[in-house]
Amino acid sequence: MEQQILRSSQWFAREGKDGFIYRAWLKKQGIPAHELEGKPVIGICNTWSELTPCNSHFRELAESVKRGVIEAGGYPLEFPVMSLGETLIKPTAMLYRNLVSMDVEESVRANPLDGVVLLCGCDKTTPALVMGACSVNLPTIVVSGGAMLTGRHMGRSIGTSDIWRFSEELRSGKMSTEELAMAEAGMCRSDGHCAVMGTASTMACMVEALGLSLPQNAAIPAPDAARKVLAHLSGMEIVKMVRDNRRPSDILTREAFENAIMVNAAIGGSTNFVVHLLAIAGRIGVNVTLEDIDCWSTNIPLLANLQPSGLYFMEDLYYAGGLPAVMNALLPHLHKDCLTANSNTIGDNYRHAVSYNKEVVTSLETPFNNVSGIVVLKGNICEQGAVLKPSAATPRLMQHTGRAVVFEDIDDYKRRIDDPQLEVDENSVLVLKNVGPKGYPGMPEVGNMGLPAKLLAQGVTDMVRISDGRMSGTGFGTVVLHVSPEAAAGGTLAILQDGDMITIDVAGRTLNAAISPEEIARRKAAWQPSYPVAQRGYVQLYQQHVEQAHLGADLDFLKGSSGSDVARDSH
Ligand code: FES
Repeated sequence: MEQQILRSSQWFAREGKDGFIYRAWLKKQGIPAHELEGKPVIGICNTWSELTPCNSHFRELAESVKRGVIEAGGYPLEFPVMSLGETLIKPTAMLYRNLVSMDVEESVRANPLDGVVLLCGCDKTTPALVMGACSVNLPTIVVSGGAMLTGRHMGRSIGTSDIWRFSEELRSGKMSTEELAMAEAGMCRSDGHCAVMGTASTMACMVEALGLSLPQNAAIPAPDAARKVLAHLSGMEIVKMVRDNRRPSDILTREAFENAIMVNAAIGGSTNFVVHLLAIAGRIGVNVTLEDIDCWSTNIPLLANLQPSGLYFMEDLYYAGGLPAVMNALLPHLHKDCLTANSNTIGDNYRHAVSYNKEVVTSLETPFNNVSGIVVLKGNICEQGAVLKPSAATPRLMQHTGRAVVFEDIDDYKRRIDDPQLEVDENSVLVLKNVGPKGYPGMPEVGNMGLPAKLLAQGVTDMVRISDGRMSGTGFGTVVLHVSPEAAAGGTLAILQDGDMITIDVAGRTLNAAISPEEIARRKAAWQPSYPVAQRGYVQLYQQHVEQAHLGADLDFLKGSSGSDVARDSH
């Protein structure tokens, strides 16, 4: 058999001074030269950090990957990249998604790697790592960290979606601070990311649906021994991927993205899926648009009964058969010929999967909800689009006209939302400006803004809310997000005023303010941007180069790929 020329041989097979330097400094870690001769060198890109609690078990997971790599005849080298913990990072982890993607891209390209294993967990760590790896396009496999065990509080199951309910119950006096403290103690019971179909689990499902991981990657709980087994098998698989020269560009075809959109609809995945999938497509060079997300979601019913769209938790999904059970049910719609990381097609991988619990994963014939997916709205408020998750919305509000109650920015909202004098009723439409990619750099998850306290006290549970921001994947409500162009970029959202009548028609896919084109033009002529502009550093770079949400909110100069060619040699 012909000997494969490995990329890493450009470092380790050299003679003279260069080879000496490359090899000698690895010997200081106890690695003899023969370990790197002719063996695929596999980078393990680790987002372990004590500042990212969802990824705090990744050192152990990396050890399992290493054992698999070694068993298959490769050599593993683990390296850190910046990690993004959703709960601790301010102002929002999304501000740094693109920065981490650069860290990953340059770390992978610059080093003597033949393939890479991405250890992903908390929300943004998955898209950031996948985006960076796509821009290099070396053989890549994803190992997700897995969700934590279901939380428990006063005899019932809880997950991150309950935080929003607890918060409103506390504000309306239905919950005491003591009960809230008890819930806090029972929420996070083990290693792993959020236990519901929030953004982290949505991302884990996305990579499996795209074919970038082994089957069952999405739902094995973090503390389950099967997660380590999957990590070991993924370590073995990446060595094979290098030998077969199977790269992300072979897997991430247009059809693979369509599959991911359909799967996201079937699981009731997070709206954050939109900006991340579009950004990944932009890196690998596949044309996917906001309209595609609506188009490929339509007619896909809700097949997984998971919070926040349903009742159950990620642990329950695994016991019901995991994502394979969902993908099996969805097979009549999916592109079955798409290639996956293990060299099988989607059809091969999922043809024999079954649901062990029809309460959690059902069939196309008996869906939990005929309405699912992500709807894209267009209109004079959002010429380039806005998104809404119908399975998390209140059906009667999906066709609604109401008077706008406008907040100029998040501080204005916080100042006035609970003011007893605020002119608002349950039919009003809450509008929040300047929380888009530029206006509040990183586009924070404030779109599902809390309702006015006086309406909560009256028992109001949902209202139409519109913003250029995002919503946590664990959030719910009739919430229009990602309005594009955003207010800070001079979109029509910027000139909405209290009292404007706004009509949302989800079935018709429209969102309009009853303002004439002449009045819009008059208000825009008088408009001045009013968001803070960063004067230095990464945030300045971000504000200058971030694209609008309908394009994935990547930095414009990061689109596409620089490939895996080694940069100019300095030795
Ligand atoms: Fe990390 Fe929810 S906070 S996944």
